[in-house]
Amino acid sequence: MLSSDELSTMIGDLLPRAIEARHWLHRHPELAFTEHKTAQFIREELDRIGVCYTAGVEGAETATNALIGDASRPCVALRADIDALPIVEKTGVPYASESPGKMHACGHDGHTATLLLTAAVLKRIESRLPVCVKLIFQPAEESGGGARQLVGAGVLDGRIGPKVAAIFAMHGRPSAPLGQILTAPGPLKAASDRFRITFRGKGSHAARPHESHDPITAAAQAILSLQMIVSREIDPVEPCVLTVARMSAGTADNVISDTATFSGTVRTLSEETRKKCREAIERRCAAIAAGHRCTSEMEWRSGYPVLVNDATLYRYLEQVARKTITAADVAPGALCFMRQASPTMGAEDFAFYAQQVPACMFHVGLRPAGVDEDDYPEIHQDSFNFNDEALVSGSKMFVALVLNFPECEVSHPEDVKKKSK
Ligand code: NI
Repeated sequence: MLSSDELSTMIGDLLPRAIEARHWLHRHPELAFTEHKTAQFIREELDRIGVCYTAGVEGAETATNALIGDASRPCVALRADIDALPIVEKTGVPYASESPGKMHACGHDGHTATLLLTAAVLKRIESRLPVCVKLIFQPAEESGGGARQLVGAGVLDGRIGPKVAAIFAMHGRPSAPLGQILTAPGPLKAASDRFRITFRGKGSHAARPHESHDPITAAAQAILSLQMIVSREIDPVEPCVLTVARMSAGTADNVISDTATFSGTVRTLSEETRKKCREAIERRCAAIAAGHRCTSEMEWRSGYPVLVNDATLYRYLEQVARKTITAADVAPGALCFMRQASPTMGAEDFAFYAQQVPACMFHVGLRPAGVDEDDYPEIHQDSFNFNDEALVSGSKMFVALVLNFPECEVSHPEDVKKKSK
């Protein structure tokens, strides 16, 4: 086993290169499924530290799956997302984006650099690893659901590398103190779906409304009725967002249109609420359309599912964080670990892995000491930048989660314990 001091020293040695890597990635942001330079950079780094990998999977050629350790042992996967956002960067840092209109505004440059740093540490202690480690560098988290492609291609079930027993991922959190680890068991991020409803009626001259079957009045009534799904049909202690964000109909002030459409998003934290909401939208629209002598048609686009952190992995992660992260790793006065008080209604495609194997995502605080929460940019803002110092807590956690895994009581404990001896 590795002592905490040994781990800190090793990370200290490797940190300057990890920071350089993070800055290179920040300078070269690429969007969903087009992360070609990024993937090349990751593979060159893996070559440099002597780690084997598979380049690309079916449907995601910019994915990279690396493997460290004895493949006959239980396999723990660590995942980093590698894509950027279509935002014009305004950080003013010397390593700012060189691709106008693209920016690492969600810190995926930091996640990738953290996993590369982790790979370098694990490679150094490969002969001592109690498990084998699969490092997944995943494209297209922000849009496109790269995780769905990778799961479909077989990164978890043994078709690409060994079968995965558990998977972990991290995400930077600007509002939390630097270095602090935060997460919670159960639902952590919302399912995010989109809907579009088209009302079809009969057009007419605006002065002869009795000759129309007006889809606009029908759609207007439906939009108001949808507000009652959350207030009247969903359990009041169950989080649910239903927002109609767009509507359109008609071409002239004196013509009643024959169609009207509106669209929006539904965010939920349970599959049951998600299903209820979808059914209620369709039912209410159809009933209201019929009352107006119109028809309605719903298009539903399923987005990312609810991200549910496995309860056993959560308990294990909390224990690991409490013994791994020290006061020296966090902003002065901050706690090393916090159980997150509530989930957020944002979405995360790590949820696709969590549907297949026990999974746990954690947050790493980015906000330096002395900086007020209101003054520190949030993710997806043009002034956001990942904090290099958070690479330490993130990689320490990844390494410790791997090294202590035989103590984790997840699904096949006997198997894990036996093989790690
Ligand atoms: Ni992100």
